[in-house]
Amino acid sequence: MLRAVSLMALAGLVGLTGCGAKIEDTRPGKPVQTRQDAFHEILREFEPMGVMLRTRTYQAEPFARHAERLFELRDEPWPHFGPDTHYPPTKAKAEVWSQPELFERQRLEFIAATEALRAVARDEEAARSAYFKVYDTCKACHERFKGR
Ligand code: HEC
Repeated sequence: MLRAVSLMALAGLVGLTGCGAKIEDTRPGKPVQTRQDAFHEILREFEPMGVMLRTRTYQAEPFARHAERLFELRDEPWPHFGPDTHYPPTKAKAEVWSQPELFERQRLEFIAATEALRAVARDEEAARSAYFKVYDTCKACHERFKGR
């Protein structure tokens, strides 16, 4: 039940529909695979907070632990968006590389929002609003820079 709620809420964010056959990242160092794995780790911390808020099962300590882990993971994906790493199986759009200033601005908004969330994680109402601000930064960046 909780799972269903969270998947519904996040389907739009992460594009969980219809993945098709998996293409492997065969390049040395696997930059695409590595950054996708990093985003999945971020999601694994982000999702349970959303479930707690949406199902009114917020508890300060578990929520704060997820916010702390999200804070620790927030820098992981970005170093793996190197030049010349727009190849299958990436879901990134070419705009990541053609509009680097905008990508960087959206990244910084996400960084700021995760910090704000961590700061208020033990106060349910403040955490709710800070959580959805983070959510909006994920969504805004995905809309512009991530395909399906
Ligand atoms: C500044 C831009 C940006 C922000 C902010 C951002 N993402 Fe992403 N995200 C991307 C891009 C680009 C990709 C595609 C990476 C690739 O496939 O090479 C991606 C991929 C993902 C994936 C992997 C999807 C898949 O099918 O492999 C997940 C999960 C994800 N993001 C979750 C999140 C969550 C949750 C947040 C917020 C807490 C977030 N992202 C914030 C740009 C962003």
